[in-house]
Amino acid sequence: METVLSGIRSTGNLHLGNYFGALKNYVKMQHENRCFFFIADYHSLTTHPDPALLHPNVHNVLAEYLAAGIDPEVATVYIQSDLPQVAELYLLLNMHAYTGELERTASFKEKVRKQTENVNAGLLTYPVLMASDILIHRAAKVPVGKDQEQHLEMTRKFARRFNNFYGVEYFPESEPYNFGNELVKIPGLDGSGKMGKSEGNGILLIDEDDVIRKKVMKAVTDSGPTAPNSPVTDGVRNIFTIMQAVSTPDTLQYFKEKYASCEIRYGDLKKQLAEDIIRVVAPIRSRIRDIRNNKEYLRKVTCQGAERAAESADKTMAEVREIMGIRRF
Ligand code: TRP
Repeated sequence: METVLSGIRSTGNLHLGNYFGALKNYVKMQHENRCFFFIADYHSLTTHPDPALLHPNVHNVLAEYLAAGIDPEVATVYIQSDLPQVAELYLLLNMHAYTGELERTASFKEKVRKQTENVNAGLLTYPVLMASDILIHRAAKVPVGKDQEQHLEMTRKFARRFNNFYGVEYFPESEPYNFGNELVKIPGLDGSGKMGKSEGNGILLIDEDDVIRKKVMKAVTDSGPTAPNSPVTDGVRNIFTIMQAVSTPDTLQYFKEKYASCEIRYGDLKKQLAEDIIRVVAPIRSRIRDIRNNKEYLRKVTCQGAERAAESADKTMAEVREIMGIRRF
């Protein structure tokens, strides 16, 4: 049993890409490992420091995680800010993180360009906080998307540096968790490569049936194939890719044949796709609603999660303090 940790920033609602790209795999992974799933609300403060939205966002993401099948009896589910040990480790690891390397991080450079009015120190040290999330449980594996790979690499660097500096073999070099062939990448409805939360190119897990139909009907296509084997455009390829995730093999086959023989009608294709997406999303949406309204349950889940996470974190912090020479009289 390996320790696996996954974090998600609490900004915005989850979409179909999050479901097929992560959540669905987590549901399986949780039974095969010692899993920690947490909601990174401290991280959200680097970009969205809005007291009116912070908690509602955590509330949404938590309900969505649980509705997708993350089982708080099997895995440890908690909120980052319920584990202040993370903040202590972050402070200590900051003493071994160099401003130069932090300034060179791709995500920081991007924020400097895009968030010019608020280039705060939290953004600069974002990778140190993320490393603290991971190392507080000495996690061996972390499922990350492309955009987080550099952060995980930095986590390994910080762990190695700590071990070398103090002459210990304490922190592991956390590796990416690999879903292999089961990893499904869901593209956007706008012809782009990736379904995202901000681009408005995606289907949210809370979208109503009619909203899903509308969004799918508006998806980018082209004027249709004119000759057998004419090249597939991005928008159409995306529709087939999403279909592969949500529809039956027979359905996919049927439309692929229609495409190949130039008889395809994109309207029919989209109608079918919308219904098949609804089949996946509707039950999740209904569970999200139930769970979101059950404050008692959410309180119980997060308290229990915080307690379990604290057990692991307290052990690490006692050892880290000892290693660094922080002692009581
Ligand atoms: N930075 C991650 C993201 O934006 C979220 C995150 C925070 C995380 N801490 C983490 C992911 C620790 C994995 C492990 O997606």
